[in-house]
Amino acid sequence: MLVTGGSGGIGAACARLFAAEGADVVVHYHRGRERAEAVASEIGGRIVGADLTDEAEVAQLFETVGDLDVCAAIAGVWPQGDIPVWDLSLERWRATLDANLTATFLTARGFLGQLGEREGALVLCGSTAGLIGEAGHADYAAAKAAITGGLLLSLKNEVVRRHPACRVNAVAPGWTESPMTRGHVDPESIRLVSRTMALRKVAQPEEVAVQVVVLASPILSGHVTGQVVTVAGGMEGRVLHET
Ligand SMILES: NC(=O)c1ccc[n+]([C@@H]2O[C@H](COP(=O)([O-])OP(=O)(O)OC[C@H]3O[C@@H](n4cnc5c(N)ncnc54)[C@H](OP(=O)(O)O)[C@@H]3O)[C@@H](O)[C@H]2O)c1
Repeated sequence: MLVTGGSGGIGAACARLFAAEGADVVVHYHRGRERAEAVASEIGGRIVGADLTDEAEVAQLFETVGDLDVCAAIAGVWPQGDIPVWDLSLERWRATLDANLTATFLTARGFLGQLGEREGALVLCGSTAGLIGEAGHADYAAAKAAITGGLLLSLKNEVVRRHPACRVNAVAPGWTESPMTRGHVDPESIRLVSRTMALRKVAQPEEVAVQVVVLASPILSGHVTGQVVTVAGGMEGRVLHET
């Protein structure tokens, strides 16, 4: 199986958990080769590098890794900086859509292309931003909404044309402690962001990873497809006004 973004916080947790379940894991990285190597050597897996926004690199990746039956498409980018749409540059908009939506499309295409008519499972990665929006990150929210909306729902109906048991699902994490949120998960920030959450904490990467593994499993999720599992402590929305 392949974990994209295996060099990141949630991806590394997925790689470890899939390996603990006995999977032969390929840990993907983009810039973080050393982090991927550390995870792979810990779990006895392989590594593969690719910029997932680059069509040729993605094609090369799937050629290199060989047959896969499971893919967890976890790689993504939350751009730093809260910028309202009226100030949002086209450059950042395009970069964010590329790094999230286009990278997920290219990953899905490459994975399903090599899968052919075999049975397999694909797990995509959205975000609560895609479900409830995120002021200051409309680019990221739009990309994640497209992943857990139109892309997921179309894919789940396409994959069964090749094999009747193929499944595609997604996780939608809320705030999760990882390199992506470094500097945003101090106790005061957690107190603020958890005001609309039943469970007043940020997730650990392992708490997201376990849902990815459950969705990928044909035993645990054999009749589950096209679903989005939100891992956000029962979050109901955001606080928009103080009073
Ligand atoms: N952390 C959160 O609070 C949170 C909340 C909601 C959703 N998510 C989603 O969860 C996923 C994992 O996030 P994380 O928290 O684990 O973040 P992270 O630690 O920053 O990991 C991001 C991963 O994406 C990879 N990546 C970024 N751009 C890439 C590109 N162009 N090509 C290939 N790989 C690329 C990175 O590779 P390198 O490091 O090797 O460059 C890294 O492995 C993302 O899709 C993110 O949007 C996270």
